[in-house]
Amino acid sequence: MKMELSRLIRNAKRIVFFTGAGISAESGIPTFRGKDGLWNRYSPAELATFEAFLNDSLKIWKWYLYRMWLIAKAQPNPGHTAIAEFEKLFSGKVIVVTQNVDGLHEEAGSVKVLELHGNIFEGKCRFCGAFYSKERFSEIFPIASKCFLKNLSESDFKEKILKGLSEDSLPVCPVCGELVGPGVVWFGEVLPEDVLSQAFSVSKGSDLFFSVGTSALVQPAASLPIVAKESGAVLVEVNPEETFLSKQCDFVFRGSAAKVLPSILKEVKNI
Ligand code: APR
Repeated sequence: MKMELSRLIRNAKRIVFFTGAGISAESGIPTFRGKDGLWNRYSPAELATFEAFLNDSLKIWKWYLYRMWLIAKAQPNPGHTAIAEFEKLFSGKVIVVTQNVDGLHEEAGSVKVLELHGNIFEGKCRFCGAFYSKERFSEIFPIASKCFLKNLSESDFKEKILKGLSEDSLPVCPVCGELVGPGVVWFGEVLPEDVLSQAFSVSKGSDLFFSVGTSALVQPAASLPIVAKESGAVLVEVNPEETFLSKQCDFVFRGSAAKVLPSILKEVKNI
């Protein structure tokens, strides 16, 4: 199987790596619906919607700061690194379309990355629409910057940051004076239009489409592998568990991203 796939990779003109929370699981970041998934323990309606933010912005910011701290402490794993190497090996032919907000693909060296659900270190004002880059948002809300959080031990983070957080210390939008929220896409919100349309067009134009570490359940992202398949792409799934997509895949690797992707890369390099 790997040999056949390696030949397809070598002859491919456009390769898409569509990734989800599973690729970051081995970096210590919990998935949403896998074993110990966040949404098995917490309610997304109470933590990842604008309504929840309006109801209790302090609770929401404590939740996101905790996830930001976890992500700030995390390192890319061999799954992320392998994808970055594919991009170098086949320059101009590889693009990453990710549902993840952790930025670990870029940290691993991937250049062409479409972040469908935004980035957790950016800021977004849902009142006036102002968007704040990582750099600008860390000026508005310094405790939410990656380099600050990554140096905090768990006890310091909980004692000094979470315990000390109050309504008054939450980030205020310099444009409209309302509270700024994290730069991620919440349930019920639309995805960034330009990113989404690019994602559909690269998927349509792909001849090899890898679906890595995603349950492929959340729309509109979950339509991308289907669009790719309908446009003639060869579909490859890397996931230790069966998903809604498995039956439509030409190749299925029941293993972890950090093991499977480096082994496929090695095979490709050997032929
Ligand atoms: N390697 C590969 N896949 C893995 C690994 C691993 N090491 N560990 C778990 N998985 C798989 C799980 O089997 C599961 O199918 O990753 C998948 C993770 O699925 P979800 O938790 O549903 O995450 P994702 O598909 O990215 O969720 C989509 O939903 O909650 C929203 O906005 C959030 O972007 C997210 C979207």
